[in-house]
Amino acid sequence: MAVDIMYTIHFYVLFVLLTVRCSSSFIGNGENYRRNLSLELNPGLNSSLTPLPPGVGLLHVRALGKNDTLHYLLCSQGAPALLLVHTNSTSSKVKVDWPAFLVQNTTGSLKLTPESSVLYSNALVFTRLWEYDDVNDTAVPEHLPPSSFFQPYELQNFTWDDLNKTLDPMAYTALLCGRGASESFSNGSLCLKFSAFDVEGRDQGWPSLLHNANSSQLRVVLDGVVPRSNRSRFSLELQVVGSTQAMSRVDVLQSIDDEYTPSIFKVSQWVSSPVNSTSPVLGYAQWKPVAYRRPSPLFEDATPCRHSTPVPVAQLPPSGLVLAYFGGEHQTTGLNMTFSITGDPFYNTTNYLSWTVLVGLGSPPVDSFSPLVLVIMAVGLGTPMLIILLGGVCVCVRKNKPQPQVYEPIN
Ligand SMILES: *[C@@H]1O[C@H](CO)[C@@H](O)[C@H](O)[C@H]1NC(C)=O
Ligand SMILES: *[C@@H]1O[C@H](CO)[C@@H](O)[C@H](O)[C@H]1NC(C)=O
Ligand SMILES: *[C@@H]1O[C@H](CO)[C@@H](O)[C@H](O)[C@H]1NC(C)=O
Ligand SMILES: *[C@@H]1O[C@H](CO)[C@@H](O)[C@H](O)[C@H]1NC(C)=O
Ligand SMILES: *[C@@H]1O[C@H](CO)[C@@H](O)[C@H](O)[C@H]1NC(C)=O
Ligand SMILES: *[C@@H]1O[C@H](CO)[C@@H](O)[C@H](O)[C@H]1NC(C)=O
Ligand SMILES: *[C@@H]1O[C@H](CO)[C@@H](O)[C@H](O)[C@H]1NC(C)=O
Ligand SMILES: *[C@@H]1O[C@H](CO)[C@@H](O)[C@H](O)[C@H]1NC(C)=O
Ligand SMILES: *[C@@H]1O[C@H](CO)[C@@H](O)[C@H](O)[C@H]1NC(C)=O
Ligand SMILES: *[C@@H]1O[C@H](CO)[C@@H](O)[C@H](O)[C@H]1NC(C)=O
Ligand SMILES: *[C@@H]1O[C@H](CO)[C@@H](O)[C@H](O)[C@H]1NC(C)=O
Ligand SMILES: *[C@@H]1O[C@H](CO)[C@@H](O)[C@H](O)[C@H]1NC(C)=O
Repeated sequence: MAVDIMYTIHFYVLFVLLTVRCSSSFIGNGENYRRNLSLELNPGLNSSLTPLPPGVGLLHVRALGKNDTLHYLLCSQGAPALLLVHTNSTSSKVKVDWPAFLVQNTTGSLKLTPESSVLYSNALVFTRLWEYDDVNDTAVPEHLPPSSFFQPYELQNFTWDDLNKTLDPMAYTALLCGRGASESFSNGSLCLKFSAFDVEGRDQGWPSLLHNANSSQLRVVLDGVVPRSNRSRFSLELQVVGSTQAMSRVDVLQSIDDEYTPSIFKVSQWVSSPVNSTSPVLGYAQWKPVAYRRPSPLFEDATPCRHSTPVPVAQLPPSGLVLAYFGGEHQTTGLNMTFSITGDPFYNTTNYLSWTVLVGLGSPPVDSFSPLVLVIMAVGLGTPMLIILLGGVCVCVRKNKPQPQVYEPIN
């Protein structure tokens, strides 16, 4: 009996371990794909021939794969923008005609060569920061009269810091901080923390988005800005320019696991894919609908955020990078990301907001159950099974026990 129970428990433990092992490899899903990353600032610039105006910088990250290359370009000329270009060549290069690039009126002053190797390009541009006086605490700027809005901060008119000072070529990160001309920014800034990734992983700080070798991340931080009213809330206007398919819809997916982003059971992805959703997604911007009100947030510092429906935009956004790269066919769509909901504290309580977005190629990464959750599930499902098994074992043991002979056999 004791031996039987030991065996049963032994099998049960094996079963749990196997479940975890199987699902871990399932989570891996061949995503341990690695790219070789290299960073360079202002590719091809001879600054003695073409001096850069202050605040203009162009960061190029080359993410080399086995038979393709991803190029990320982060630029602070005009509205800050991140351009992603996928080529089917391992030797594609960025070519910048710097004098023309700096004039900002010549398409083709930045290109990827050979041009025939380009499979996909897409740029995410941060165009405006809206501030509104939420007197009735509704947090729905779409329903407010124009008089509730302050003059928006045009990010194209910000002064941006030198990227050279914040570049970390070993961690593949850079910090781009800018300030508006107004008093409000005298002690404040809007910063974009860029991270490129060579392999699958997850950021330490919330919202701990899952990333892979085909993605990079931007964390937007609005720190120390003096709000123009006590009940100010903010929205960030984003625009996306693509050469092929417009990023025309935002899918919101549900999850039942919030282990990596406490209390957030949703992930939103703004995808570029043909109308009929059976076709694969070409590229995306993905975020969790949450912003944080402190740099090292606690649970209560989370504030939900909400996006407006993407709308087509007639003009190219005012980014030097976009104007230099996108000629010919292109599509632009835009949306507003609104931080906070009714009842949440206003910006003046912490004077801080951070929100994170992942930009990438192909299908967005999907959060799967963590090993911890799987163990809990295995235990939850396994325990009743164990009890049933044990019950069965006991019955069998009882049945097989030689019954005491009551009657003597009759000869
Ligand atoms: C930059 O241009 C100057 C003037 O033509 C030339 O002397 C110098 O070698 C160039 N520097 C680089 C790094 O190409
Ligand atoms: C990345 O670089 C390492 C060493 O420099 C090399 O062994 C590896 O083959 C490279 N991988 C790719 C995909 O180019
Ligand atoms: C690269 O190679 C993989 C298989 O190794 C293949 O599935 C993929 O289509 C190739 N990509 C390109 C752009 O040729
Ligand atoms: C771009 O601007 C420069 C200087 O402002 C001007 O000389 C040039 O003709 C312009 N090019 C185009 C294509 O508009
Ligand atoms: C890359 O893609 C272009 C356009 O789709 C195609 O013409 C070219 O043959 C491809 N090259 C390779 C090496 O796959
Ligand atoms: C706030 O609520 C009051 C009373 O309901 C209403 O009269 C006013 O128009 C509202 N203000 C805004 C900006 O919505
Ligand atoms: C921003 O810059 C543009 C172009 O330089 C200018 O037309 C516009 O008036 C500026 N906006 C603000 C709010 O300063
Ligand atoms: C960046 O700064 C370093 C030293 O601070 C300097 O040596 C380097 O030339 C700079 N790079 C560029 C592209 O400005
Ligand atoms: C900025 O900070 C300085 C020093 O902390 C302070 O004296 C000044 O009043 C602040 N400015 C604003 C607009 O808050
Ligand atoms: C922020 O604004 C609210 C609403 O007007 C006010 O009650 C509160 O005192 C302000 N907080 C700070 C820190 O200024
Ligand atoms: C998408 O599917 C609908 C029916 O499901 C069809 O009528 C429509 O033509 C399709 N659109 C495209 C672009 O294929
Ligand atoms: C963002 O919100 C502002 C203010 O409501 C509005 O004027 C603007 O058109 C919106 N932008 C987009 C792309 O929806």
